[in-house]
Amino acid sequence: MAQQIPIVVLPEGYERVVGSNAMRANIYAAKAVSDAVKTTLGPKGMDKMLVDDLGDITITNDGATIVDKLKVEHPAAKLMVEIAKTQDKEVGDGTTTALVYAGKLLEGAMELFEKNIHPSVVISGYKQALEYIQTYMEKNARDIDLKDDEALVKIASVAVAGKTTDVDPSYIGRLCVEAVKTIAETVDKKLVIDQDNVQIIKKKGGAVSDSEFVKGMVIEKEVVHAQMPKKVKDAKILLLNAALEVKKTETKGEIEIETPEQMRAFLQEEEKMLKNMVEEIKKTGANVVFCQKGIDDIAQYYLAKNGIMAARRVKESDMKKLSKATGAKIVNSLKNLSSDLLGTAGIVEQVKMAGDDFIFVRECVNPKVATIILRGGSDHVVDELERGVKDGLGSLSSALEMKKIVTGGGAIEVECAEELRRFAMRCGGKEQLAIKKFADAIEEVPKTLADSAGMEVITTLVNLRKYHNEGKKDYGINVIEGKIDDMYKNNVVEPLKTKFQAMKSATEAVDMILRIDDVIAATKKK
Ligand SMILES: Nc1ncnc2c1ncn2[C@@H]1O[C@H](COP(=O)(O)OP(=O)(O)OP(=O)(O)O)[C@@H](O)[C@H]1O
Ligand SMILES: [Mg+2]
Repeated sequence: MAQQIPIVVLPEGYERVVGSNAMRANIYAAKAVSDAVKTTLGPKGMDKMLVDDLGDITITNDGATIVDKLKVEHPAAKLMVEIAKTQDKEVGDGTTTALVYAGKLLEGAMELFEKNIHPSVVISGYKQALEYIQTYMEKNARDIDLKDDEALVKIASVAVAGKTTDVDPSYIGRLCVEAVKTIAETVDKKLVIDQDNVQIIKKKGGAVSDSEFVKGMVIEKEVVHAQMPKKVKDAKILLLNAALEVKKTETKGEIEIETPEQMRAFLQEEEKMLKNMVEEIKKTGANVVFCQKGIDDIAQYYLAKNGIMAARRVKESDMKKLSKATGAKIVNSLKNLSSDLLGTAGIVEQVKMAGDDFIFVRECVNPKVATIILRGGSDHVVDELERGVKDGLGSLSSALEMKKIVTGGGAIEVECAEELRRFAMRCGGKEQLAIKKFADAIEEVPKTLADSAGMEVITTLVNLRKYHNEGKKDYGINVIEGKIDDMYKNNVVEPLKTKFQAMKSATEAVDMILRIDDVIAATKKK
């Protein structure tokens, strides 16, 4: 009897997919996201052109940016977006790699599922594989530290490669290294790299090779008076958070001026006050003033007359960074000024870039902030370059955090896959099959790289495995020359943390997707 009565547990307007159908649908949706970014992998990867509803165009190769702009709807696909976001936050690079791993892990799970292997067995196998391979990678990774300039340049260049085609990626990689070395601080014997202390300024125009590193700060301001110097060497800098103006009174008052003499006296008094303000500044020995508030015309005149360079209405955030760069204290009044409140810089100069004026504060002695200026023919070029620099900075901090690097170009993946296959043989149970699928999943990276370089994928992979079994652990895909090569000798190295995190977040997301056997969703209101 009871079987004939439909039991309604969900309100109207809800949809429900259960069991294997739910899992299949989730896997297909998540895999679609992975497939969408896969072709962008590596320096020979393709770019995506994304157009939003306002018609704004983004051309990029960056996995995190692509999935962010895709605006996916499907809940399982959204989990893939999360992978990219986590990878971007934790490491800054390797977002495409993480998505490629995850896509292939799901495909493997699906194949096992079709063979009646329960998802929980697959999950358990994947977790065993992850744990085993992380230990293996750590044991076999090479060491690195902050003094190792050349290795650092290689790491940054690999992260930047693909996001610039105009110059040798090591040119931009070097800028990233200089910036990281400038801002790295040791706190409680630990190296701290706060990327917020690297200021990136994008300016369309010029060539990518005009991009530069500034040991200090750059602000988008011009020197306030034409007669002021445009370049000051051995700068003594005052950071002033007070107006160089005669204060207007709060209450309304009226001064009756009846004669021209009175008028003159009044103006003279005002001028004297402004002149005195400049005198106070001059006494400290300052030759550059950055003022957060306004500077009266007369004050400007006296500053110029004394050979002092000044900029006004500087942003509060820039004032703080200027303080970090030059060591100057931000002062709130002209009272009690003294020379020890001043900061220093080798050179402060006004520079014109693509028609706009900037003030460069260069050659600071021990700045806690650094600046990278990015140039390029179009907004799209500089935007993508910025994503490359951010990946480079992220990659450098992850490399220095774990102090370990591995060989890229698919070398680490082939090495790990072969090791996992050996491990699988030693494991009993059906989990063995899942461990093998894990091996296949990470090998998707060298396969994709080979494909992007126009190489025959299967033959290349078979040959690569052969080299690795002969102990040639650094052999991978030289995508530039389209051949198998020692990628360590080719300077393609990546932080261990990038691979660690990519495998971890891919496994976690896949675990979550495979556990779902019931999707209950409210249908959207029309
Ligand atoms: N010169 C090179 N030759 C071969 N492989 C390279 C070279 N440079 C980089 N690679 C490889 O390319 C892959 C990285 O590609 P890419 O930067 O497009 O993706 P990602 O780092 O995973 O994601 P994203 O940069 O979008 O966050 C890594 O496997 C890396 O080892
Ligand atoms: Mg990258």
